[in-house]
Amino acid sequence: MNPLNRRQFLGTVAAGAAALSPLRSLAAETSPASAARKIKIGLIGVGWYGMVNARAAYKAGGVEVVAVCDVDRAHLEKSAEEIATTQGTRPQTFKLYEELLAMPGLEAVIISTPTQWHALPFIAALKRGLHVYCEKPLSYDVREGQAMVAAAEENPRQVVQVGFQRRQSEAFRAVKTFIAEGNLGRVVQAEAQINFTAGLKNPAPEPPPESLDWDMWCGPGALIPYSQQVGHLSWRLEETSGQGHLYDWGIHLIDASRVILGQGAPRTVAATGGLYQLGGRITTPDTMTAHFEFERCPISWRHRLWGSEEYSPDINNGITFFGEKGSVWVSDNKWVYIPKGKGAERQVTEVKTDAGTLHMAEFLNAIREGKQASCTTADAHLTTTTVKLGMIALKVGSKLTWDAKKQEVLGNAEASRHLLRPYRGLWKHPYLAMS
Ligand SMILES: NC(=O)c1ccc[n+]([C@@H]2O[C@H](COP(=O)([O-])OP(=O)(O)OC[C@H]3O[C@@H](n4cnc5c(N)ncnc54)[C@H](O)[C@@H]3O)[C@@H](O)[C@H]2O)c1
Repeated sequence: MNPLNRRQFLGTVAAGAAALSPLRSLAAETSPASAARKIKIGLIGVGWYGMVNARAAYKAGGVEVVAVCDVDRAHLEKSAEEIATTQGTRPQTFKLYEELLAMPGLEAVIISTPTQWHALPFIAALKRGLHVYCEKPLSYDVREGQAMVAAAEENPRQVVQVGFQRRQSEAFRAVKTFIAEGNLGRVVQAEAQINFTAGLKNPAPEPPPESLDWDMWCGPGALIPYSQQVGHLSWRLEETSGQGHLYDWGIHLIDASRVILGQGAPRTVAATGGLYQLGGRITTPDTMTAHFEFERCPISWRHRLWGSEEYSPDINNGITFFGEKGSVWVSDNKWVYIPKGKGAERQVTEVKTDAGTLHMAEFLNAIREGKQASCTTADAHLTTTTVKLGMIALKVGSKLTWDAKKQEVLGNAEASRHLLRPYRGLWKHPYLAMS
């Protein structure tokens, strides 16, 4: 294919937008009759994103939040207040998700707990016959993910949507089409990064807030001393919960790269990095590069959580696809085609998408229409496994070879051990519970 002139290029964009129209109309297509039948949902975890998800569900329409659950009483009260104001009825409040799941009439749950607490409520909700919207990353470890995939397969009538909402971004979708049409020729490499200067809190151990049951918050994971740096929101950079910047945030761009290129699981994974600047303050790498070799082309990731932003701040957060004939850089609401050749004119497209609302609308409409949503458990497991292998490769200091069929690291027993974390106390790892 020849390099595009401007008219052809705009035509491509228009075609891409037209291809998106079924998605765009998802929320709008909800008929007044079906929207009138309100889906009764429960929220598990109502910190920051639990309420972002609840607002997205209201925006999508046709829901009633009948129950909320959180191990922090303060979050529970605050969210119940907001929901009562929004919908005119106060939801029931629970500390334990098991009690919420037992509520008669409940149809679906939205799980927005930190990562150490995704697998157990997810599997329990499916077993109770509920539909599940679960936040990313799918699981804390690979074996949990396998148990979650098995639970979804055993309950095919329940809808699952995993919170990789960037899949709804028109910019990412247009780039997928643009690449599929051959405009870059063979894509040789993709590179993703999110430059982020972490705002750190006090890492010194202190008593948890009176309203928070810290033991339950840590749950099946390790019981670590509470500090502001490992508590609400900040847990992302803690190894026993968020597992760091690649696992928590970079996972969105690894997911998008994989989907845009139509790739499955990586074949090999290597990583370098460490705590070069923020040692003693966080427990995951502040500087990291990872290289994932997939069948079609490698995807690399790099991050740095300190210092200044990129030379060009525009590229702080995005993916570049390098092709033999040109490159594309893409982020949530913008993409740039960089044709090959010195000084070739770049073509910039800005497209705003309310990805969170579209992703939630797709989940709710799938429930109404008895079909599946687009981000399935198995697909989310592929992305989550990819970033987990990145973290394991860094930990063991070796390049890993992944057998996707067997879901095993080949020839590296130490790395294999990290595919499953030990569960604490009376909690039983769902993968071990399967056998
Ligand atoms: N899709 C996205 O773009 C996006 C953005 C932000 C966060 N997230 C995801 O949303 C989830 C929550 O993140 P957040 O930023 O809201 O964190 P947060 O710390 O603000 O909130 C988490 C809440 O879960 C509660 N919780 C912990 N254990 C619980 C349990 N066993 N039962 C009930 N509640 C429990 C906490 O008390 C807290 O209120 C994470 O999985 C995160 O990765 C996704």
